[in-house]
Amino acid sequence: MDGNGRWARERGLPRIEGHRRGAEAVRACTAGCLEAGVKHLTLYAFSKENWQRPPDEVKSLMSLLDRFLAERIAEIMERNIRLRAIGHLQDLPEKTRRRLDEGIARSAHNTALNLTLALSYGARTEIVDATRAIARAVQAGTLAPDAINEETVTNALYTAGTPDPDLLIRTSGEMRISNFLLWQLSYTEIVVTPKLWPEFSKEDFFAAVREYAQRNRRFGGV
Ligand code: FPP
Repeated sequence: MDGNGRWARERGLPRIEGHRRGAEAVRACTAGCLEAGVKHLTLYAFSKENWQRPPDEVKSLMSLLDRFLAERIAEIMERNIRLRAIGHLQDLPEKTRRRLDEGIARSAHNTALNLTLALSYGARTEIVDATRAIARAVQAGTLAPDAINEETVTNALYTAGTPDPDLLIRTSGEMRISNFLLWQLSYTEIVVTPKLWPEFSKEDFFAAVREYAQRNRRFGGV
């Protein structure tokens, strides 16, 4: 959800105002998914690296997340959305973690859309965690090294059981992956839009889906 800071700076506002507007923009994107029948939406809300931001910004982002979870759960339930999260959730403030767990538990049987928040998430950390889990299984004698294949790794990631993304939308013109779902994005189509995240509308979402629909996906074939 890139470009919150720039959106605020362009308007002479504090960065947190951009994040606040960014949290609002989540609604448009989830509405677009529901209308288009998209079953999985993963939002990169806070990376492992984001902890290095000034303490004030980190604190404000955590309270925004907290407010999002408190205020939007009714809407999440009403829209039949299943809330999920990936990342080092143990790094989150306890109150936020509790709210998150509650939201996840309450919405566990919803079926219209899986809304996954990547929080304190880093793809390299995810791969390290998966490697450790696999190594432990080998050490315990329940897995032979030669039996390790792509499926073993896929199933050891935080995203186990979720399909690889078809489309990655990167806002604010950034041309980087920024440590997001590195393994899972191997064959994902990327759409980069110059729109800053707080301005990213449902129409922008549909435009990205239309661009995706025109791509010829070959998965390495011809
Ligand atoms: C990137 O923009 C955005 C973030 C690091 C935070 C995103 C978080 C939210 C929108 C709110 C909380 C989360 C939810 C799910 C409601 P940036 O700050 O890097 O912007 P810049 O590149 O323009 O500086």
